[in-house]
Amino acid sequence: MAMRLLFVCLGNICRSPAAEAIFLHKIHHRGIADKYFVDSAGTGGWHVGRPADSRMRAAAKRRGIVISSIARQIDLQDFENFDLILTMDSDNFKDVSRLAKQTKVNIKPMLSYAKSDGIVDVPDPYYGGESGFEDVLNLLDEACEGLIEDLGC
Ligand code: 4NP
Repeated sequence: MAMRLLFVCLGNICRSPAAEAIFLHKIHHRGIADKYFVDSAGTGGWHVGRPADSRMRAAAKRRGIVISSIARQIDLQDFENFDLILTMDSDNFKDVSRLAKQTKVNIKPMLSYAKSDGIVDVPDPYYGGESGFEDVLNLLDEACEGLIEDLGC
C-alpha cells in the first residue's frame, strides 16, 4: 500500500505546496511515484481554494517543477488518512501536534531530514523578496532528498 504523506505550513500557498511538488518531482524521476500518496495543507484557512502564491510557482517553474495544488486547511480526518505529517516550522509543528492529540499519526519537522545543521524552520517567504523563495526551494530540495533516503527508496 502507498505511504501517505502530508506537508503542512501556515497558509498552504508557499512552503507546503512547494515541498509537495518537489517531493512529487523527485519520486517521479526515480520511478517510485506509485509508492506514495502525497498532499499538502495549511494550519490556517485564509487562502483556502486558491492556487499557490505566483512568486513561489514562478521560482519552482524555473527549476522545472510545477506547483499545481489548491490550498486547503488541515482537518481531523487527515490524522486518520495520512501516515506521516511533515511540518515546515516550529509553530506548524506545535499546532499540528495539538490538533492530532493522541492519534497515532507520525509528525516530523521537515528540516529534520535536511543535512544542513542548525536550521530548524523553513522561513516563511510570504512578506519577503525574491531570494526568500529561492532559499525555501533550496532547503526543501535538500530535505526531500533526505526524506526519500530515510524512507528507504
Ligand atoms: P505559507 O506562507 O505558510 O508558506 O503558505 C504564508 C502565506 C500567507 C500567509 C502566511 C504564511 N498569510 O498570513 O497570509
